[in-house]
Amino acid sequence: MALTGDYKLISTEDMLQGHAELCIHAYGFVKSMALKCAIELGIPGAIHGNGGGASLGELATIIALPLSRLPRLRRLMRVLTVSGVFSVEHQQPDDSVGDGMTDDSRFVVEVILREGRARDVFSGVRSMVDVGGGTGTIAKAIAAAFPHVECSVLDLPHVVAEAPADGEVRFIAGDMFDHIPPADAVLLKSVMHDWRDDECVKILRRCKEAIPSREAGGKVIIINMVVGSEKSKGNSTKKEEAQALYDLFLMAFEGGEREEHEWEKIFLEAGFSGYNIIPALGIRSIIEVYP
Ligand SMILES: C[S@@+](CC[C@H](N)C(=O)[O-])C[C@H]1O[C@@H](n2cnc3c(N)ncnc32)[C@H](O)[C@@H]1O
Repeated sequence: MALTGDYKLISTEDMLQGHAELCIHAYGFVKSMALKCAIELGIPGAIHGNGGGASLGELATIIALPLSRLPRLRRLMRVLTVSGVFSVEHQQPDDSVGDGMTDDSRFVVEVILREGRARDVFSGVRSMVDVGGGTGTIAKAIAAAFPHVECSVLDLPHVVAEAPADGEVRFIAGDMFDHIPPADAVLLKSVMHDWRDDECVKILRRCKEAIPSREAGGKVIIINMVVGSEKSKGNSTKKEEAQALYDLFLMAFEGGEREEHEWEKIFLEAGFSGYNIIPALGIRSIIEVYP
């Protein structure tokens, strides 16, 4: 088959938008799950019976949901809101509602290389340990792109045993809850959303022990979503929709994505002094966390 036409390099923004749209399609089934769940909980009737609008707290009371389930109700409503089933009237912490992976690592490194803000994250780093780094795809890509960074990977023994021993990066078998080997920077990509807050605090404490002071260049580099980091006025953006869907998908595995205030809470609890969010990866961000 002959292919004709002009081909050009796709822009980073188009690439990231395409990634968000791919996520929306891949996790589209979550919308029907959310809708079914809302109907079973009696949410549309509850809002209607409350005059067409209700705060999250009111909604929980009307449907007799235990207070401990409020964060889950919020995530459910977020999906139904970005999908256009309900609308949010005031974007407050307690929102009011009314009717109304291998290839991934390569993709992320390609975007980091294209984006100055993201590239800068690795510029002063001399050594980095990728915690929960699997078989080293991202560590190898970073080592190739930033030759001044000495990269190693920490993962569980059975994962490290499968890693190809090609000498490009050093593999260390261990448990991130026990000990993280020393380095200027600790990378945690797509790891924290698998763990509860108290578990993340434990991991971050081990990270803090592994890195030097902020003045000496120590930092933790987290690659994950910061839900709502690109808040739009009015209609939800594709990125918000993709974030909400993926978050609810993770709920099935007891995981979840975090909003900025939720990240901040665990950083401070783990003893870190500050952080910087770099929203340069589409639906995900790079968060630099400083000791
Ligand atoms: C969701 S995967 C992320 C892999 C990789 N960072 C990426 O972005 O493709 C989570 C990784 O954490 C590792 N892991 C889970 N528990 C761990 C522990 N206690 N210590 C070290 N690694 C762990 C898993 O083996 C897995 O490789």
